[in-house]
Amino acid sequence: AEIMKGRYDHFMQKEIYEQPESVVNTMRGRVNFDSRTIMLGGLKVYLPVIRRCRRLIFVACGTSYHSCIAARPVFEELTDIPVAVELASDFLDRRTPVFRDDVGIFVSQSGETADTILAMRYCLERGALCLGVVNAVGSTLSRETHSGVHINAGPEIGVASTKAYTSQYVALVMIAVQLSDDSIKKTARREQIIDGLHDIPEQIKKVLHMDKALQQLAKDMLSHEKSLLIMGRGYQYATCLEGALKIKEVSYMHSEGASLSCKRILAGELKHGPLALVDEHLPVIFIMTRDSLYPKVQSALAQVMARKGRPIILCNEDDLSIPESAKVIRVPKTVDCLQGLINVIPLQLLSYHLAVMNGVDVDFPRNLAKSVTTE
Ligand code: AGP
Repeated sequence: AEIMKGRYDHFMQKEIYEQPESVVNTMRGRVNFDSRTIMLGGLKVYLPVIRRCRRLIFVACGTSYHSCIAARPVFEELTDIPVAVELASDFLDRRTPVFRDDVGIFVSQSGETADTILAMRYCLERGALCLGVVNAVGSTLSRETHSGVHINAGPEIGVASTKAYTSQYVALVMIAVQLSDDSIKKTARREQIIDGLHDIPEQIKKVLHMDKALQQLAKDMLSHEKSLLIMGRGYQYATCLEGALKIKEVSYMHSEGASLSCKRILAGELKHGPLALVDEHLPVIFIMTRDSLYPKVQSALAQVMARKGRPIILCNEDDLSIPESAKVIRVPKTVDCLQGLINVIPLQLLSYHLAVMNGVDVDFPRNLAKSVTTE
């Protein structure tokens, strides 16, 4: 195992650093950057069925669930099909109604997560088309689904999932693009996304170069704290949840991802709870890369600053309207629906450094297993 880690101290660190290549491997042979088209072989014969379905149901656990949350907006936009995203355990607890004209998409790194497998069998019994988005070839999920997409991220050893998240995200975006390629109206948007995908590996590399500064930030701003709030909305809601999960599981620091998603931000989720946590001590990471919701995140930021909160702002490189007093993490800009692929990287690195600083056995945090094969 020491040899496999190469120049890295931990598998988690190695896997974070592999992402410029692992996302390329997810796209290899599937995305044609010249003709700006996407072809996923496993889905080809099912396209007409999927396009006519009554509903797409994404089912997953943990980080894989977050990749589904990340991809839902672009799925809805490109396909015009209603999308449900379900935690496998809760989906089963509720014995959710499922019909033969539903399509289930089961997302799992290991392909062996018990709840996700049981949810898939539940959908199979009800006659739904079941597709897997899986990393481990030959796993139960990839064998028992009708078809699907392997994300080809390569083996992930660290209990904390990192490269599987970005590859699942890319795979789900690719599925959405392929599903919509019968819509002429959406051609420009598809081409914009494919052009965006082309630049993602280089942009991830750029963020990885900020590692030393992020390590310093973790040390100065976070390593002595008890709790951390991560806030954002829209496309970045998933990034908040995933960042908070990474921090919790490897650094043992309490962290919460809070959605600012609500119609009237001043009367919305922030004021329904998380704002009560804010004081001059609590660090808050604000995800405010530029997209259509930027003004709303700005107003939430003002709320937090008015309560003497200590924001760390994750924003785009060229953003000049960030308050001077705030700490910033600047990242390259991409297409709105892909920005989460970039924004999650500094959060992965922060959690990794916090884990090391806290003396956690990074690749094997206490109480957790790489794949949860019992209910
Ligand atoms: C991620 O860091 C976690 N260790 C965990 O949430 C994981 O994503 C979850 O158990 C799902 O695993 P799977 O993708 O193998 O199904």
